[in-house]
Amino acid sequence: MARPLDGRTIIVTGASSGIGAATARACAGTGMSVLLVARRLDRLQALADGINRTSRGRADVLVIDVAAPEASTAILDAAERAHDGRLDAVFANAGYGYARRAVDETDADIRRIFDVNFFAAASLLREAGRRLLERGDAGHLLMCSSCLSKFSLPCYGAYAATKAAQDAWCGAMRLELLGTGIEVASVHPITTVTEFGDVVDRQSGGAGAPSLSDRVPRPFVQSSDRVARAVVRCLRRPRPEVWTSVVARAAAAGMTIAPGLGDRAIAMFARRAGAVTGPRKAH
Ligand SMILES: NC(=O)c1ccc[n+]([C@@H]2O[C@H](COP(=O)([O-])OP(=O)(O)OC[C@H]3O[C@@H](n4cnc5c(N)ncnc54)[C@H](OP(=O)(O)O)[C@@H]3O)[C@@H](O)[C@H]2O)c1
Repeated sequence: MARPLDGRTIIVTGASSGIGAATARACAGTGMSVLLVARRLDRLQALADGINRTSRGRADVLVIDVAAPEASTAILDAAERAHDGRLDAVFANAGYGYARRAVDETDADIRRIFDVNFFAAASLLREAGRRLLERGDAGHLLMCSSCLSKFSLPCYGAYAATKAAQDAWCGAMRLELLGTGIEVASVHPITTVTEFGDVVDRQSGGAGAPSLSDRVPRPFVQSSDRVARAVVRCLRRPRPEVWTSVVARAAAAGMTIAPGLGDRAIAMFARRAGAVTGPRKAH
């Protein structure tokens, strides 16, 4: 039976844009109360005002860098204050990407993307899981990973590594919490029309690694509302992984079974998109 969401609460990080904003709106549409978390207050406030004007659910905002020390505690405390002590669901979605060849990487940039995409999300789900367990409460913990958790693309090694780490983290938590009433799910979107591509271009800093997102074939491009609807379906009917493209899921399975063939297919696509796939002189 589908779980009722009306009156439940959810924390959505990365709610100022894209998948997070769409998911927050979709959850509020079901009657859930949402804590919107990100760094840009104007965006969060505009979204909260819209939700509070038109949706059944309520929205509150928290401005914070998810990678700041003690951010998870601050986020969970703020949610419990806003929601009369309730903690039902968390969607750790804040994240970013950039495109750069592995040989051009810097330790600082790899650490920073892991801080935001992996460590912050893992810490938030861990801390939420602890609180739920201590109280004997049920709950739902979700993390926005990617289809790139299962295979990589040239110039997206650091990004894909954070997404694979998220996937592994959710898989372990899910098994550890089996039977406790706490569900854990990873979400695996394909290319989604959001600000993500602009951020990739900005963060890549002209390192000779063109963003692939503009040249992804149409069947691999979707709207953020599609991901949001899939997250809401998962909240109603829990499942281990949320996929929004059968083709991408099949491709991920194919690459696990035949990685050599998979490499050749990806290299062909990447070459067409103008990405670096072979040896070239250092610059
Ligand atoms: N778009 C895609 O093609 C795609 C595909 C697969 C997976 N994903 C994943 O989907 C998630 C959402 O991305 P999106 O596509 O919706 O991109 P987006 O439109 O750029 O949204 C990213 C969100 O993350 C927030 N954020 C980034 N760094 C943060 C930090 N340090 N602290 C707090 N908030 C932070 C941003 O808010 P502020 O800037 O206001 O802080 C923004 O709300 C990411 O985890 C991404 O990896 C995206």
